[in-house]
Amino acid sequence: MTGGIATYKIVSLVRLLQHHGEQVRVAMTKAATNFVTPTTFAALTKYPVLTDLWAKDRQASIAHVELADWTDLAIVAPATANIIAKMANGIADEAVSTTLLATQAPKIIVPAMNSHMWANQATQRNITQLQLDGVTVIEPVTGQLAEGYDGKGRMPEVDQIFAQIVDQLKGQNSNLLAGKKFLISAGGTREVIDPVRFIGNRSSGKMGIALAVAAAKAGAKVTLIAGQTTALLPDNSQIDVIKVQSTQDLADQIESRFTKNDVLIMAAAVADFQPFSVATEKIKKSADNDELVLKLKKTPDILKQVASHKQSQYVVAFAAETQQLIENATKKLISKHADLLVANNVASAGVGFGSDDNEVTILEPNQAPIKWNKMSKQQVANQLIELIATRI
Ligand code: CTP
Repeated sequence: MTGGIATYKIVSLVRLLQHHGEQVRVAMTKAATNFVTPTTFAALTKYPVLTDLWAKDRQASIAHVELADWTDLAIVAPATANIIAKMANGIADEAVSTTLLATQAPKIIVPAMNSHMWANQATQRNITQLQLDGVTVIEPVTGQLAEGYDGKGRMPEVDQIFAQIVDQLKGQNSNLLAGKKFLISAGGTREVIDPVRFIGNRSSGKMGIALAVAAAKAGAKVTLIAGQTTALLPDNSQIDVIKVQSTQDLADQIESRFTKNDVLIMAAAVADFQPFSVATEKIKKSADNDELVLKLKKTPDILKQVASHKQSQYVVAFAAETQQLIENATKKLISKHADLLVANNVASAGVGFGSDDNEVTILEPNQAPIKWNKMSKQQVANQLIELIATRI
């Protein structure tokens, strides 16, 4: 973000991108911080906002290069005449221009400025240069400017910008899994005890949602069966979202759709037990009893059941373990008839349940386990989708 009155609209753009399933990180010039505060964007994106090349409190020693390498698509919105001039000439003299020079990601700019500044020959020359360099320019529209008169220089409405970004993303990633159908489960299931209580688990749904987005980006048609999630569900024309509550609901959805798909990824944290019977009225605490005993019965093992009659489907399981990771996960790979199993140790700090990061080991039948370094769930998802693409 660079300085301009339109900066306040970027809050909605960030939200739209997040709903679409994207992860967004923000860098702001000093001028931009005069219009909106970095705190707003840090809270919204859950990432620190890059404003200063020399900030001392950063963990990554070269924060702008880390951000430049991380990004799949760089969007400059609003883009001032100044940043356009810098980009066209390779100038890197503060955090935003330096990050833009360092990134190899495709770039979109959304100019917004006074109409005379837009019409200026220097600006027009720079715009032409950027287009020649392969930068996508979303042209400003004619309308009322902050100065109080009409002219060409207004930033287009956020939903128009969003639509163009989505198009660009589709173009970038669409080939790998074109024509493939993915069935992905995410989140935790809930087993009802009485009208106000349930047994649940701490799954956020982040991993399954990240996989759905990564598969859709790679061109697949995705059906996402989502149990309880704390992460935002994607709003994406390539992803059908179906919400479920209990393990039985999830089992019904997976069983009825399994054979119509090419790949099943069971990333959901499925309840293994459910109450023997559901109380129709709220269970009261009785004065004379300090204990309540709930009798539970096993839920169906969805994966085991569906994968036992798989034909050409490629089946991916997850295994959450707290001990003997490889040994336990290998047993699950075989007993659940999976083609690939993603094992993670949910007892280790900062990864797994609820976290943004994951540290996984990939198991395949008759292959040595492969441990992947700790990375974000989005990166695990991208890497896993690429691996699945090569396997199918
Ligand atoms: N799974 C399933 N149905 C269940 C339980 C689990 O389909 N009733 C799937 C999960 O979605 C995951 C894999 O099986 O892909 C392994 O889940 P996990 O909870 O690690 O294993 P469990 O079989 O439940 O074994 P345990 O809880 O004893 O470790």
